Amino acid sequence: MRGNLAEGNDFQAQMGLSLEKVSFVWPSGTKALDKCSFKIPRPGLWMLVGSNGSGKSTLFRLISGMLIADSGSFECGLKPALMFQNPDHQLLLPSCASDLLLSLPKNLTSDQRRNRIKKVLEQVGLQDMESRPIHTLSGGQKQRLALAGALASEANLLLLDEPTALLDPLSQKKVLEIVQHLCSRPVNPMTALWITHRLEELEYADGAARMELGKVGKWHSGHLLSKRLKPLAGRRV
Ligand SMILES: Nc1ncnc2c1ncn2[C@@H]1O[C@H](COP(=O)(O)OP(=O)(O)O)[C@@H](O)[C@H]1O
Ligand SMILES: [Mg+2]
Repeated sequence: MRGNLAEGNDFQAQMGLSLEKVSFVWPSGTKALDKCSFKIPRPGLWMLVGSNGSGKSTLFRLISGMLIADSGSFECGLKPALMFQNPDHQLLLPSCASDLLLSLPKNLTSDQRRNRIKKVLEQVGLQDMESRPIHTLSGGQKQRLALAGALASEANLLLLDEPTALLDPLSQKKVLEIVQHLCSRPVNPMTALWITHRLEELEYADGAARMELGKVGKWHSGHLLSKRLKPLAGRRV
């Protein structure tokens, strides 16, 4: 696992993200989170793997403030942004720039807005695409635009729910590399929590854990978890 201790200490002091025995039961009676405890130790790319129904999406809704835990303690000093499998579910306006405008803080001048949009498009490899109609973008470009929206909103915690599940291998690699870069930059590194079923993605992680029956297990290196889960590949782990 990468990163250094001093960075981790600063991160904890700002209250990165920590859950202690958090439980959540849906009104239907399904217990989706069961005394779930984990901490993100420092900024970086952290991945979760878990079978369907293990509580991953419920966990993301809770972290992003859409749900309140029934019990346990939850602390998050980071500003979250959610990204889903299908970017069509979150891109709303016709052009790249108009969509990003929705995510910008409200108090900016028009120059600041223009500059910010230019910068976040560059950060995701979509430079000069301000006026491109969204329907002309590939799936991977749309996913990168969704990522630019998260950057425009000044989020520092990316919650990515299988963001590459619908992408071809090249677009998948590009999204992985961009998120990895954002999470390892020397100034203001982002924190990403990335759900995946594609074991090869674990190689990009700073740490990876398995989610089972509403609980998150211990962090391992992505390489180790991938090796352990390979025998189960083919089944949804
Ligand atoms: N809106 C909902 N209402 C009732 N039960 C739900 C709802 N969303 C998820 N669940 C249930 O909660 C459990 C965890 O689901 P989820 O968090 O979506 O898991 P995952 O994302 O790991 O597949 C499952 O048993 C699922 O059926
Ligand atoms: Mg899910």
